[in-house]
Amino acid sequence: MSNFDSVATVKKGTYWQPFTANRLLQANSPPRTLVAAKGAYYENVEGQKLFDTLSGLWCTPLGHAHPLIAEAVKKQVDTLDFAPSFQMTHNNALSLAQRIADMAPEGMNHVFFANSGSESVDTALKVALGYHRIKGAGNRFRMIGRERGYHGVGFGGMSVGGILSNRKMFAPCMMPGVDHLRHTYAPEHMAFTRGQPTWGADYAEDLERLVALHDASTIAAVIVEPVQGSTGVIVPPLGYLQRLREICTKHGILLIFDEVISGFGRMGAPFAAQRFGVTPDIITFAKAVTNGIVPMGGVIVTDEIYKTFMTGPQNAIEFCHGYTYSGHPLAAAVGHVVLDVMESEGLFERVAALEPVLEDAAHSLADVPQVADIRNIGLTAAIELKPAQEGVGVRGLAVFEEALKQGQLLRVTGDIISFGPPFIATENELKNMMQTVRKVIETVG
Ligand SMILES: Cc1ncc(COP(=O)(O)O)c(C=O)c1O
Repeated sequence: MSNFDSVATVKKGTYWQPFTANRLLQANSPPRTLVAAKGAYYENVEGQKLFDTLSGLWCTPLGHAHPLIAEAVKKQVDTLDFAPSFQMTHNNALSLAQRIADMAPEGMNHVFFANSGSESVDTALKVALGYHRIKGAGNRFRMIGRERGYHGVGFGGMSVGGILSNRKMFAPCMMPGVDHLRHTYAPEHMAFTRGQPTWGADYAEDLERLVALHDASTIAAVIVEPVQGSTGVIVPPLGYLQRLREICTKHGILLIFDEVISGFGRMGAPFAAQRFGVTPDIITFAKAVTNGIVPMGGVIVTDEIYKTFMTGPQNAIEFCHGYTYSGHPLAAAVGHVVLDVMESEGLFERVAALEPVLEDAAHSLADVPQVADIRNIGLTAAIELKPAQEGVGVRGLAVFEEALKQGQLLRVTGDIISFGPPFIATENELKNMMQTVRKVIETVG
């Protein structure tokens, strides 16, 4: 059997897919098999083009089949296809770390590579624990996440995450000492807000409640997505992140921004930290850093954190953590091309220019009777549908399937449609995307 041509002989279920209703997918109606991708479009097995409304899974902002990326991958395979990052190094990873540090907020000059968002989050949590321990505050072990947060699927990320369906099956194995802030979504005060809600900054005071409950001397870090992505684009209220920063600083708690979605331009700035004017102690990144082509993730830390680790005998390993593929040469090569293209094509500025176009297009659906809320920030948006009488998620699934028929690959979770189109999308494509969604909702009813 050749590896590409003999799908017909593959038994149903051999390939057990992640975050998927496997039996429904296997029923394959409408067709769910993708065969090619170019620019902002996928092509399915029937030759139908599908607009990529979420940039893959928030990870391909430059679009697919970018010629410079293809060229860089080929060249790198021929030059240095793998290099160990334990006790050895190579130029691509060194210089990519420098470039990432240069685009990070001031004072965040140190980059540790991982291979996914989940690994980046677990790395960040370990950095926070290690930092306090080296400082003689090993009793700071608690991690504070946030309801509705998504931080990947490692045991650490799952524990600080706040999405019920990702947690309940694994309840006995949550990391000890984790608590959660309230999420900031209050539709009665903020439904149909364009950009940041002006109501809700006080949700940050919830951290004081947890400090009063656990004592700051037991809390290592707070981890939040500046914009909650996977749960359906929940935008931080004006002033909320600033207040969270102040409370963390006051109590010596590290603030981690999980920028796996918001990093590398999606907010119209290198990181959401700059967009919102709040500097955390640790930033996690992944996805767009390599345009999703070769997996890569990582964390950026402050000079203070790095300096704290760089103590003890010079021949000692300072942080017993890392991955076989940390700083992989192929990923690092692609990372350079991504930054080259983002710079040469002015893509952060382009995102900033497209933001009002996406905002207007999304909010033009406010009159659709099935729509409960519309949210947006940067090049992200969400349309939340009212659940159908048959139950939560039924309308969402019908919309997803009808959209496939109408040439759009949507990201639907429950009854929320999330949008994170490629930065290379045109204004017309963004408008058409939302007009098609209107038609799809009208067709589904
Ligand atoms: C904020 C955030 N953190 C972590 C992750 C996990 O990333 P990965 O799926 O690469 O492990 C995601 C994935 O969507 C994410 O959105």
